[in-house]
Formats: sequence, structure tokens, C-alpha cells
Amino acid sequence: MREINQFLGGEIAQRLAVICTQSKTAAAWSAKDFQTEAAQKTSRIFIISESDNDTKTVLGFCAVRFTFETAEITNFAVCPQMQRKHLGTELFTHTLNFLKEKGVKEVTLEVSYLNTAAKEFYKKFKFTNVSTRKKFYNTGEDAQILKLNL
Ligand SMILES: CC(C)(COP(=O)(O)OP(=O)(O)OC[C@H]1O[C@@H](n2cnc3c(N)ncnc32)[C@H](O)[C@@H]1OP(=O)(O)O)[C@@H](O)C(=O)NCCC(=O)NCCS
Repeated sequence: MREINQFLGGEIAQRLAVICTQSKTAAAWSAKDFQTEAAQKTSRIFIISESDNDTKTVLGFCAVRFTFETAEITNFAVCPQMQRKHLGTELFTHTLNFLKEKGVKEVTLEVSYLNTAAKEFYKKFKFTNVSTRKKFYNTGEDAQILKLNL
């Protein structure tokens, strides 16, 4: 059975950090980063997991910060072996629905120009390009800032 829950802290943070390490284009958050972020009032981290008898495996996460009518996706990844199976879509739809319920009207995020998979993903959700941050990443890549009106 597949489910989406809010990450509220605890040892799952280690698993989330592993997903970041495996999914190289996710922001490189440590387990401590996840714990700190989850403790913020204006943040939510949603996790998608698969349960099989007594095993529960976390397969991805979507982290967001929101203030009044605006929100920012701060980190998002599905573990590599489960990508392109629409888990990201499920998780992202859940996150956007949560934000709509909170009264958020505009969601922004930043993505590398070279991250084709993520750019295609956000295009499918009808995000549009608002600006470019030159050499935003340590690697020298530019970042695209994308926006979606909810
Ligand atoms: C971005 C990410 C979370 C998407 O999750 P996912 O579960 O693989 O995505 P989905 O299967 O829901 O894909 C939905 C749509 O996005 C697009 N898409 C996803 N991956 C793609 C790829 N590798 N190439 C082209 N299009 C892609 C497709 O339009 C796809 O629909 P389709 O499969 O019906 O054609 C995933 O690629 C990932 O974890 N990447 C590494 C971390 C990362 O870059 N995070 C974003 C940082 S800004």
C-alpha cells in the first residue's frame, strides 16, 4: 500500500538524507537538515512510502515553505530506482493541494538548467520561467526560477 504523510521528525530523516545523496540533483540535505526543517512552523515535508506487510519504505519527499499567499518548494526527490513511475506526481499533487487549502496563491522553485527531468516535470504542472540566476550552483550551472499560480 502506498501512502503520503507529513514527516514530523525522527529516524526517517536518515532515509531522506540517503535519497538526497542518491538523487544527485536534489538539494544535499543531511538528516539534521530534515529535522530542522520539519520543526519550522511554516514548513512541511511530505513523504511517500510503500508498505508491504510489516516493512515500510520511504521512496520520496517534497519539502515546502509557505508564508501567507506565497510558497517555495525547497527540496524534492524520488529515489532513483522508483523515478518515472508517477510517485513524484502523486507527492507534488498532494503538496499543491495542501498549499491551496492554506490559501497559497503562488508557488516558486529553483531548478538547474541542466536538470531536464525536473524541468519536464514542472512543465507538466504548468510552471513558467520567471528569471535566471547565473552560476547559482557551486558547479557553475545557472538556475531557472519557476512560478505557478494556484
Ligand atoms: C523530479 C522528480 C522528483 C520527478 O519524480 P518522478 O516520480 O520521477 O516523476 P513522474 O514519474 O511523476 O513524472 C511526471 C512527468 O514528469 C516528466 N518527467 C519525469 N522524469 C522525466 C525524465 N527523466 N525525462 C523527461 N521527462 C520526465 C514526464 O513528463 C513525466 O510524465 P510521463 O512519465 O507520463 O511522461 C525526479 O526526477 C527526481 O527525484 N529527480 C532527482 C531530484 C531532483 O532533481 N529534484 C528536483 C530538484 S529542483
